[in-house]
Amino acid sequence: MNGPAIPPAGGGGRPGDSCVMVIFGATGDLTQRKLLPALYNLARARLLSSRFAIIGTAVEPIAADAFREKMLQAIRAYATDELDQEVLAWFEPRIHYISGDVREPEFYARLRALCEQIRADHAIEDKHFYYLATSPVFFGEIVRQLGQAGLASEEKDSWRRVIFEKPFGHDLESARQLNADIKEVLRERQIYRIDHYLGKETVQNILVMRFANSIFEPVWNRRYIDHVQITAAETVGVERRGAYYETAGALRDMVPNHLFQLLSLIAMEPPVSFEADAVRDEQTKILRAVQIPTPEDVLSKMARGQYGEGTVAGEPVPGYRQEANVAPDSRTETFIAMKLMIDNWRWADVPFYLRTGKRMATRATEIVIQFRRAPLVLFRNTAIEHLRTNRMVIHLQPKEGISLQFGAKVPGPVMKLGSVKMDFDYVDYFGSTPDTGYERLLLDCMMGDATLFQRADMVETGWSLIQPVLDVWKALPPRAFPNYEAGTWGPREADELLERDGRHWINAT
Ligand code: BG6
Repeated sequence: MNGPAIPPAGGGGRPGDSCVMVIFGATGDLTQRKLLPALYNLARARLLSSRFAIIGTAVEPIAADAFREKMLQAIRAYATDELDQEVLAWFEPRIHYISGDVREPEFYARLRALCEQIRADHAIEDKHFYYLATSPVFFGEIVRQLGQAGLASEEKDSWRRVIFEKPFGHDLESARQLNADIKEVLRERQIYRIDHYLGKETVQNILVMRFANSIFEPVWNRRYIDHVQITAAETVGVERRGAYYETAGALRDMVPNHLFQLLSLIAMEPPVSFEADAVRDEQTKILRAVQIPTPEDVLSKMARGQYGEGTVAGEPVPGYRQEANVAPDSRTETFIAMKLMIDNWRWADVPFYLRTGKRMATRATEIVIQFRRAPLVLFRNTAIEHLRTNRMVIHLQPKEGISLQFGAKVPGPVMKLGSVKMDFDYVDYFGSTPDTGYERLLLDCMMGDATLFQRADMVETGWSLIQPVLDVWKALPPRAFPNYEAGTWGPREADELLERDGRHWINAT
């Protein structure tokens, strides 16, 4: 049953603990596109324990063999690098399947028996983690049933952990309720609320850039920084997710999770250590310092939009209301821009402008740190209006790197100032590593490191900041949707938001 032996771990770090991974909702897209390819990459990098197995579970009554074949095909289809047949052969006997209704206690009794049998067959330690990739409506129920079936309790050296896919709640109240429900069964240290942005190398690099260098921190404050822009622009529409997106919208889908993670990493104070709770304490603290929007703020500092038809990458695309499973008169927003202020000594009066949208002009996730002008004008007779300010842009995707813009003398006998850019490109320096973005997160869970996962208080603080927006928007539905053309940078209102402050968005090219 054990299949070919996988060579022992190389020098690239400690492999995860020996354990069983149970994936709920295993027939969905995420398992095939991300989880299996990520596990394969970990195995290839010798970062999976050789005593490891996967149990997929879903309601579809398919045979284990058929599931196994589907997963191997998924690895082949979505592999981020050339396939290693030896690793694939190692995986094959380690993939199992059990179908059932997650609301039925009988299912958990069968799951428990299967876990025990698989642990015995593969000599796996008494350690399980459950990856909840089902609809979030089942999260509370699954955890309750795991608890009742004895599948969540830890003894001596055993451990049980649960990863929750997003969305974690759909508003403040539901997030609080879900936290309360799962805490009846699990301790916080067993809970891993995933935000896949934290799996991105460049996002993790924000911490390293800020706190492993001495040159940035002295200028990282209101004295030198004029404002910060965080953009997550996508060119895709809602694809096959119309039904989900109709109930979510851009605000819920991207802001309390991904954008607030970026905001907190950029704005947080240095943590006392890189231990999970030290980092998460600082992230929570900075989110608590963000001013909670008043109803007036929602009207004057937030802009929402929905795309109409347009052109993306030279191709005509339909409007949001024409997408599958979307109401023809839908009022769901596909774009949001907001201005947030942070009430602390470092950031008082420095606006943070956030925006995200579907079907925008370019795919780009970027953070712009806009520095203040030099305090005095030395070059009186030069065209000073042409002297740009210093700007640092952290490119998170698809380009990965950092660029710094500063003034320089244009060569020649007259004093002319120009603006130059210094670029650091991740791939140039480090090459590219095959990565789905889930490797680090899965490995961390197998090692018990929750630094890159959201703690209950972080999630609730995030929701508490956007709840007033949800409330005002519910009371005042949008009047002029669609209000931006697919393939553009969003509605006019988003530009006006910055123009009112004498600023403008820095758009990726
Ligand atoms: C997901 C959202 O969490 O993040 C999607 O639900 C969005 O709507 C995606 O497209 C963006 O992720 P990435 O990694 O492509 O920036």
